[in-house]
Amino acid sequence: MKKLHIVAAVAATIAFAAQAQDAQIDRKVADLMKRMTVAEKVGQLHQLSGRQFTGPTSSAYADKLADIRAGKVGSMLNVTGVADTREIQALALQSRLKIPLLFSLDVIHGYKTVFPVPLGEAASWDMEAIELSARIAAKEAAAAGIHWTFAPMVDVARDPRWGRVMEGAGEDTYLGSRIAAARVHGFQGKKLGATDSVMATAKHFAAYGAAVAGRDYNAVDMSEQQLHEVYLPPFKAAADAGAATFMNSFNTLNGIPATGNAMLQRDILKGAWKYKGFVVSDWGSVREMVPHGYAADLSDAAVKAINAGSDMDMEGYAYTQHLEAAVKAGKVKMSVLDDAVRRILYKKFELGLFDDPYRYSDPAREKTVLNDSSHRAAALDVAQKSIVLLKNENKLLPLSRDSKRIAVIGPLADSQRDLEGGWVVQDNRARVVSIVEGMRGHAGKAEISYAQACAPGCATTEGFAEAVATASRADVVVLAVGETWDMSGEAKSRTDITLPGQQEALFTALKATGKPMVVVMLAGRPLVFNTIADQADAIVYAWFPGSEGGNAVASVLFGDYNPSAKLPITFPRSVGQIPLSYAQYSTGRPVTDEKNVVYKSAYIDSVNTPRYAFGHGLSYTDFKYTGLTLSSPTMTQGQKVSLSFDVSNSGKVAGTEIVQLYLRDMVSSVVRPLKELKGFQKVHLKPGETRRLSFTIDRDTLSFFNSQLKWGAEAGDFKLMVGSASDDIRLEGSLKLTQ
Ligand code: NOJ
Repeated sequence: MKKLHIVAAVAATIAFAAQAQDAQIDRKVADLMKRMTVAEKVGQLHQLSGRQFTGPTSSAYADKLADIRAGKVGSMLNVTGVADTREIQALALQSRLKIPLLFSLDVIHGYKTVFPVPLGEAASWDMEAIELSARIAAKEAAAAGIHWTFAPMVDVARDPRWGRVMEGAGEDTYLGSRIAAARVHGFQGKKLGATDSVMATAKHFAAYGAAVAGRDYNAVDMSEQQLHEVYLPPFKAAADAGAATFMNSFNTLNGIPATGNAMLQRDILKGAWKYKGFVVSDWGSVREMVPHGYAADLSDAAVKAINAGSDMDMEGYAYTQHLEAAVKAGKVKMSVLDDAVRRILYKKFELGLFDDPYRYSDPAREKTVLNDSSHRAAALDVAQKSIVLLKNENKLLPLSRDSKRIAVIGPLADSQRDLEGGWVVQDNRARVVSIVEGMRGHAGKAEISYAQACAPGCATTEGFAEAVATASRADVVVLAVGETWDMSGEAKSRTDITLPGQQEALFTALKATGKPMVVVMLAGRPLVFNTIADQADAIVYAWFPGSEGGNAVASVLFGDYNPSAKLPITFPRSVGQIPLSYAQYSTGRPVTDEKNVVYKSAYIDSVNTPRYAFGHGLSYTDFKYTGLTLSSPTMTQGQKVSLSFDVSNSGKVAGTEIVQLYLRDMVSSVVRPLKELKGFQKVHLKPGETRRLSFTIDRDTLSFFNSQLKWGAEAGDFKLMVGSASDDIRLEGSLKLTQ
């Protein structure tokens, strides 16, 4: 009891101190704003790109520097490193009011130490690992002068044609929301303003991941239910976790560009969610409202964007060129401009930049932090946790080291750059451990031979004969294939997501040797690889695993690490099935028997089921699920029910299982998905060990966005499903909500 009082007293003191700090910053902001001209206010809303460029436009660099000195710029992106950030900050401090700049960068999966791409990390379902990855990225970036990262991308994505599935957490809202919060906590650390933290950005607000036909920047058209239930919750989770900023997006949503969308930015984000941070546009997205046909010209775009709640204009030049006149003409109220400026200045004070504009740019810290060897160890750990064992016939894996000859073959087997994936901000490739290198390092007595067969992309078959000869001399073949690093990410949509070039032909040629075949696949998205899926003995999906990728892959292949990852996104059999999610809605004509699908919701040339389902992932051991009980078969809206069951490791090696809880609302005012993920737990078990696990089910677990466009749970029956994957349900129960 006494302890509780102390905890409550400490919490109250912290809350009080935070309020006092808020009030103090508010006063400082108000005082500064009193001294600002309209032009200086507009300057704070203007974000420029530095020497490296990620998008299509830029004006001459010298002009940009002059603008900084004149106080016409509030933030820079793409200026990195202590030396450069100091140099540019010094220019801002020559301006009349000496307002420091915010330095921002796309630190998506690491700064110097490269972690797996976010979709890969999502496969770990490991919130601590994901948070740690973001923490280390933040430490490194913050030591290199960066205040702010444009991450996490929290867009739900169910279309693997869209190249940016790589940057997010996959198809699921619940998993995506948990990961959004973990990544925000990781980037921002305990406190914004600590010099090992950076501001996070929840992007791209909103629904960017649902671009029609998976074509990047394309329109989005969706129901209110989809928006509120599937696409918005990860943003809400990021806001609740304290994300300092939001980025809006390039797409239209039901006809209105997100950047000019007041319903999203004013009503939902800053209204219903009471969000206090600021919103940055995406690169030029204010200007792009002109080609969208939503704004008549750049001036109109500036007016529409700021009135809709878009606070900072990234490389769009709409605010800097037109906002002052728009305010004078009464098209934008001074209070609207002031609100945007206030939000941005608040963050600059919170980061401590007015006390010391160079506090993130310390050369000694940069050197120490960027050379911290513990970061590599963490990158290895996260990469191991991200690798999914898709298939393992006859337990070919793990490979034995005893007098085995292992042929490591393939265009990506000795690649370094392709292990990093996209959004790498420094050229670190020399520090990347390739798969062959990792295999050699882990081989022990086994002998490793190597043949590339073809260059990344695999355009030609000239090297196949040598590769086949190498395979013929071995006991087992490890084939490393996949996408090259630049095939997924922004502006990398594909209509054909099979393995690029001649890679499946390479597999077939090697398979003809009759040797057991292990395929290691690298990619930023689910690929379609039906021949390999049917004929390979084992398949390991490594995504783009980062700096320690080769070591991580080798440790999995040799069984030094027992894989535990599960797919965060469905793998289709063909592009024709897309979009395909485990959480599909029921139909009036469900397929109950794959052999009889006439006049059913089916295809005449394919089964409905995916190649690999959401949540799928194997281990070198087996897990048994038994003894499901519910603390009560019924509950009321205010009650909670506990669902418990046993999970045992019935195999011979220790392993980690990701236990998944799904639910179906059987009858409701709006038709519900066949399954929705509602919880998961990661449990490590020794051989023979059993653990009893529980999930708590409450009103929130049963709620959905109903026909009145409100969140709520409806009385009736719910099916509860516990299992190892969305298509591998081991235990079922039912629960009745009585009112
Ligand atoms: C455009 C991308 O959509 C966004 O995610 C990124 O943060 C900006 N460019 C800045 O590089």
